[in-house]
Amino acid sequence: MTVHTIRRDFELFRSEDPPVYFDNSATTQKPDYVIRAAEDFYKSSNANPLRGLYDLAMDATDRYEDARKTVASFIGAGDPSEVIFVRNTTESLNLVSECIASAVEIKEGDNIVVTVSEHHSNLLPWQRLSRRTGASLVFIEPDMTGLISDGELEKKITEKTRLVSVAHVSNVWGRENPVKKIISAAKSVGAVTVIDGAQAVAHTEVDVSMLDCDFYAFSGHKMLAPMGIGVLYGRKDLLEKMDPYMLGGEMIEYVTREDATYAEIPHKFEAGTVNAGGAAGLAAACRYISKTGFNYIRDQENRVTEFLMKEMRRIPGVEIYGSKEPSEHHGIISFNIKDCHPHDVASILNEDHICVRAGHHCAQPLMQYMGIGSCVRASVYAYNTLNEAQRFINCVSRVRKVLGY
Ligand code: ALA
Repeated sequence: MTVHTIRRDFELFRSEDPPVYFDNSATTQKPDYVIRAAEDFYKSSNANPLRGLYDLAMDATDRYEDARKTVASFIGAGDPSEVIFVRNTTESLNLVSECIASAVEIKEGDNIVVTVSEHHSNLLPWQRLSRRTGASLVFIEPDMTGLISDGELEKKITEKTRLVSVAHVSNVWGRENPVKKIISAAKSVGAVTVIDGAQAVAHTEVDVSMLDCDFYAFSGHKMLAPMGIGVLYGRKDLLEKMDPYMLGGEMIEYVTREDATYAEIPHKFEAGTVNAGGAAGLAAACRYISKTGFNYIRDQENRVTEFLMKEMRRIPGVEIYGSKEPSEHHGIISFNIKDCHPHDVASILNEDHICVRAGHHCAQPLMQYMGIGSCVRASVYAYNTLNEAQRFINCVSRVRKVLGY
């Protein structure tokens, strides 16, 4: 496997003058194989899954349920019914926060624990749950390299903790949180565990059974799959106890004028017509990533990240956030350039056809904690090359001069 063979799988990178795409934490590019799988569903199996009794509809249902099995095996779920298809990570986290109180009592005096580095998607739902239940929100505070100490965990996860929800990998620091330790600390006090895996699943093996978490949320579009398909993994006994999130078609067992009983999981949580094309694309993405292999993915990301960090450190005025160690970044490098607004930096990079994200990255409490308003984020994936990294470095070196410093 080489970066050049991988790049051939992507239309964008086959084009004559492709942009340097360093915004993979926002969304990844999609290989032909994934696009073809989604397209093929609509071309040859299109009917509304889970309803029709004719062959075409049964084929659609089979493809949809096969996709669920593929995803379940990709993340090590014990049973495909523990895989709920949703739109994205945000929807997964909203689902859990809206429905968990029907299965687990959360009340005044209890604590809901998050970290200060959460993406807003893994913060706002818990803010609302804490307002509704009277439980307090408690924040784990990593150090400025993104590291969470054992002492901090002991201090924040206590007998009062009812639920802990943390990112597997931060979308700003790129650092992996010690989720295994966090989950076992939470379990020791009987708390529910939720992991936001949006920035992890495309970069590192995830095995929910080994992690032993109660919930694990992720989006397809950050792991080579189409937008609009995502996953909530949930432990069977909890999902079974929880009320449904949305009510409507195909999530019921029996309906009378006044009442309804609900379908078994996973369908209880999949009201309305499902995104079967997206699910087919997501299954293909799981196969593509498995075939590519996490060893290759990690090596290539680390190669490019290491080069970028080494060269960026040589450029006067550049400050990189998070760990000093490139392999602790999962391809994410957030930085600022002295005196330069991140939006100006992103615009200058764009003039050289380099795509990065600039702003608060939907992590405003983290920006406040770091004492900055915003930053630039370059995020690389397995298809990015050292040549692209050099183009990025050449441009970053010129930014202060272009802005008159
Ligand atoms: N959550 C995505 C990001 O961090 C959009 O960019």
